[in-house]
Amino acid sequence: MNDKGFRTNIIHSGEVDFMKKVMSGVAVPKVAPIFMSSVFSFDDVPTLDGVYDGTHDGYVYARMTNPGTDGVCEVLAAAEGSDGAVAFSSGMAAIITSILCFVEAGDHVISSPVLYGGVYDYLKNELPRFGVETTFVDFDTDDIEAHIRPNTKVIYSETIINPLMSVPDIKKVADIAHKHGCKFIIDSTFATPAVVRPMDLGADIVAYSATKFLGGHSDILGGAVCANREDLPILHKLNTLYGNIMSPFDAWLLARSLRTLEPRVKLHSENALKVAEYFEAHPKVERVYYAGLASSPSHELANRQFVEGRCGGMLSADIRGGEKGASDFIAACESIKFVPSLAGVCTTISYPAKTSHRQYSPEEMKAAGISMGQLRFSIGLENAEDIIAEFDKAFEAVE
Ligand SMILES: Cc1ncc(COP(=O)(O)O)c(C=O)c1O
Repeated sequence: MNDKGFRTNIIHSGEVDFMKKVMSGVAVPKVAPIFMSSVFSFDDVPTLDGVYDGTHDGYVYARMTNPGTDGVCEVLAAAEGSDGAVAFSSGMAAIITSILCFVEAGDHVISSPVLYGGVYDYLKNELPRFGVETTFVDFDTDDIEAHIRPNTKVIYSETIINPLMSVPDIKKVADIAHKHGCKFIIDSTFATPAVVRPMDLGADIVAYSATKFLGGHSDILGGAVCANREDLPILHKLNTLYGNIMSPFDAWLLARSLRTLEPRVKLHSENALKVAEYFEAHPKVERVYYAGLASSPSHELANRQFVEGRCGGMLSADIRGGEKGASDFIAACESIKFVPSLAGVCTTISYPAKTSHRQYSPEEMKAAGISMGQLRFSIGLENAEDIIAEFDKAFEAVE
């Protein structure tokens, strides 16, 4: 194809005919390629119509679906045991879009008062602008059912609640939701399907910040929602309309990360339990929050709900001395960094009152049980004894 002008030849070679040749080959790449194409081309109008109405397989425009997101959604659905999944550009996009699928002006949501600060802020301050009110109910101690109204459409929680690591009774909440015709949406970011598959216990929608353990290497910003057949069309529709689909590159990285999800989360959990036990015995720690500890109020429920009683890589601890104790501890750590996120391969520390839960007022923070001495630990895949040795040294700086 060298019969046209210089630029024309460069622009059109290695394109459509080449791709058709690759796709019809008898050997397939062992690893799916990254399809960095924002749009797809058609030989004629009836073919395009066929893709839209489902009589032909194919893609139209990458904001709708694309091979990268379809590929990773197959892996997500296999991990979750769901009919399908939808990939989003962030965890917030996944969660907010899921909620918006089921509410309209005049509706009501019930949520736990302790959850990731961004979602709390959204439910409390943003959703009311669209006429949707949220009641925050303690899922452990309050009677959820007593707060349900005729217009309640969604019950929302987290499987391991950020940052106090308490665990709601998923089946109980799902049963209440269904009795009253509500959807139960649960954020399982801290747990992942290697710890619990909430849909097996009755949840309708499982949302993730894929930025965290699903990605697992601190190099992806993404979100995911797993759902059953009846809810997938509206999730896809709003994903397309709001334009918050995951990028093909992030989808490729996420699919690769998911292959190792179980061994990673198993090791995160084993290490986290060792660190939690170490903290529990330390005189400069006032309280440890980790459902894997026999002393945790969530221990029995976690053992019942979670695979092999595995509780994930996240834990929190109240450091003696309040804000000063927490700050001195952070500053004294060397390889373990102060990072306002979680779930990479390295152990990291976050400070909920200053980062993820900054949106809470001092009164809300106190009511929720988030203290100024509370640090949140994302326990990594290093050798547990090295993590503990570094913390042991850092405690010397705490009075
Ligand atoms: C439990 C939980 N859910 C959701 C989110 C939001 O995810 P993203 O930052 O990917 O939007 C976070 C972020 O830290 C989180 O911790």
